[in-house]
Amino acid sequence: MFKNRLMECAAQVQLHLDSVMVPMGEMPVVQAMRYASHGGKRLRAFLVLESARLHGISADQAIWPAAAIEAMHAYSLVHDDLPCMDDDDMRRGQPTVHVKWNEETAVLAGDALQSLAFELASNEQCSPKAEVRAELALTLARAAGAQGMVLGQALDMAAETSETPFTLEQITELQEGKTGALFGWSAMAGARIAQADTAPWAEYAKGLGLAFQIWDDVLDIEGDAETVGKAVGKDADAGKATFVSLLGLETAKNRAKELIDQSCAALDPFGSEADILRDVARFVIARDK
Ligand code: IPE
Ligand code: IPE
Ligand code: MG
Ligand code: MG
Ligand code: MG
Repeated sequence: MFKNRLMECAAQVQLHLDSVMVPMGEMPVVQAMRYASHGGKRLRAFLVLESARLHGISADQAIWPAAAIEAMHAYSLVHDDLPCMDDDDMRRGQPTVHVKWNEETAVLAGDALQSLAFELASNEQCSPKAEVRAELALTLARAAGAQGMVLGQALDMAAETSETPFTLEQITELQEGKTGALFGWSAMAGARIAQADTAPWAEYAKGLGLAFQIWDDVLDIEGDAETVGKAVGKDADAGKATFVSLLGLETAKNRAKELIDQSCAALDPFGSEADILRDVARFVIARDK
């Protein structure tokens, strides 16, 4: 049920992203945008679509913020893989954008995917209410920017050369930024469109985002590159600060499990209607890619 729904979500988001990029033509930068926005698990889009459904928002509306967050996420990956950042050659089982094209195309495709994300999040189809659309775009800007994802990425880079290892508090701040902020926006988007309380969703996403990143860090150690679709075994050499580097594999895994239990409990107000969102939370710490 959950896996089918996730596949359906991935197909819908892909179609939507492809269709909004049709008018952009065939410049290399646009080809690179299309390429970078293909594939992936689509977990962030899934959170948008399923939380929106729970709030009675139609799929025709929710597909816009769902595609928006995947465009934002795709940009973050293109830039994350650049030689000046994590210097990765493989992403989603394919050569990274700067390898397939070049660095300037990767920088620009990332830039344009970010702009596209704001365009999609403020599209009229998201909501007939202008204030709701403005709120979606404003909160997306905060989630992606210097107090959100970019802050996390900057801390991630700083940790590589830090003289003293990051504390648990610093790693938590780093991961809440680089991963948690976009997960948070995704989980809250449906409630925002419905103008409902976002608090349970913020609580749900907090544990989910951290556990997701812990599992990404676990896969860097235990995963198989072909299955994961990207290089593994790089974080320790690069001096990355992660829950795993600080706590060790087993403690980090236990922490992830606790975080997911907390996430699921945050959905208590929604009863069994939220079961699919509990399923996705459990999937996050069971996945092999
Ligand atoms: C990878 O995210 C980047 C991190 C924040 C750890 P995903 O694992 O969700 O990547 P895709 O979208 O499925 O490729
Ligand atoms: C990336 O974290 C987070 C963002 C892109 C914001 P990682 O650097 O751990 O992600 P992977 O392992 O390259 O997918
Ligand atoms: Mg990185
Ligand atoms: Mg990386
Ligand atoms: Mg990683």
